Amino acid sequence: MAAGADTGFSTRQVHAGSATAQASPRATPIYLTAGFTFSDLDESAAHFGEGTGFGYSRTGNPTVHAVEERLASLEGGDQAVLVSSGQAAVTVALLALAGAGDHVVVSEHIYEGTRGLLLDNLARLGVETTFVDTDDLDAWRAAITPRTRALFAETLSNARNDVLDVAAVAAIGAEHGIPLVVDSTFTTPYLLRPIEHGAAVVVHSASKFLAGQGAVLGGVIVDDGRFDAAASGHRFPHLVQTDRLGGASYAEKHGARARGQYIRESVAPRFGPSPSPLNAFLIGQGIETLSLRVERQSQNALAVARWLEQRPEVERVDYIGLDSHPHHDLGERYLTRGFGSVFTVTLRGGLEAARHVVQSVEVITHMTHLGDVRSLVLHPQSTSHAARTVAERERAGVFPGTIRLSIGIEDIDDLLADLDQALVGVPVLERETVVL
Ligand SMILES: Cc1ncc(COP(=O)(O)O)c(C=O)c1O
Repeated sequence: MAAGADTGFSTRQVHAGSATAQASPRATPIYLTAGFTFSDLDESAAHFGEGTGFGYSRTGNPTVHAVEERLASLEGGDQAVLVSSGQAAVTVALLALAGAGDHVVVSEHIYEGTRGLLLDNLARLGVETTFVDTDDLDAWRAAITPRTRALFAETLSNARNDVLDVAAVAAIGAEHGIPLVVDSTFTTPYLLRPIEHGAAVVVHSASKFLAGQGAVLGGVIVDDGRFDAAASGHRFPHLVQTDRLGGASYAEKHGARARGQYIRESVAPRFGPSPSPLNAFLIGQGIETLSLRVERQSQNALAVARWLEQRPEVERVDYIGLDSHPHHDLGERYLTRGFGSVFTVTLRGGLEAARHVVQSVEVITHMTHLGDVRSLVLHPQSTSHAARTVAERERAGVFPGTIRLSIGIEDIDDLLADLDQALVGVPVLERETVVL
């Protein structure tokens, strides 16, 4: 709109200078705007009717869209939907599949926020959860009921570093027309692409490795675009029956893309966890160095895990990259480019030994976060796993002397020197006297 010299001060303060210059930036521009102008009535009608173009940033934004395209490509999926946090990604994915009276089967080794979502929030909405041992394929199969709408697990679990046999669990779901939803935060598409192994939906906390700098929160849901109405329609009436707002079903309109489009058009924009375009930009910048960071983090983590395994203060190191890990062979099958950066180490001196280390590290930062370029440490028993019973914690590999490391990209010698000095004063106990 023109704001000529003849217009008033208040008009010019919002309209003068708003014409955008024509330029072709190489970096993804940050479209930090609530909405987009329509050139004429037909364009606005087409946007509301057929969803073409951009109208309002909650339903679509070019900066967000660029990151979504990049993530869909890296995951080998059909489409991605970016949301404001990893927690939002898990919530949106599950709400797209299950409603009141429905049921989900979930690995018992999952992030505490997801566990809380299932046990409290989704339970209050009428979605029930059965937790199963990740390794026990018979338990996955036995837990399925006529109301089951999703199988859910993390690719690499916190804290014990268990690896999900994606293909095997996806195949069990496929027998019943039930999608496997996988949280691949710990593995990133650089290490593992679950859709290639049969998962239907992949979610990430983009706050972690994808962004990489620890500056923003974000989440993403990637759909495989392989919804099969004939095989799964009976489980998902909201995708195959007439749209509740009227008109053709999602399956009629979008075919194999029905589930992804339902996530994009119905669940994400209505529940509303929209990402800021600025955060989307920073996640997109982060992804540009994902392979370099994860490769380096995996190398560093393996070196740190091997070093710790030799230390007399250490009872066990649960890192999938070590030959001693019970899932190492499965890990080698799925993780061909490295074993990731997050793992736990349990000190023989128990809680006081763990306290000493987290309070003595200098290069490594004591905080709750992971997947950062900086190395981080946390004491799970008193933090992330505090709400669990002792038996549940022990099943997850969390003891009073356990600390969780998320290894960054620093020089390996500095990380080892830091841990070396942090271990000074930690008791060296014989196995028989271990205070786990
Ligand atoms: C495996 C996993 N999934 C989901 C989340 C939630 O992500 P956000 O913190 O971005 O909401 C986390 C956070 O730690 C996580 O570790």
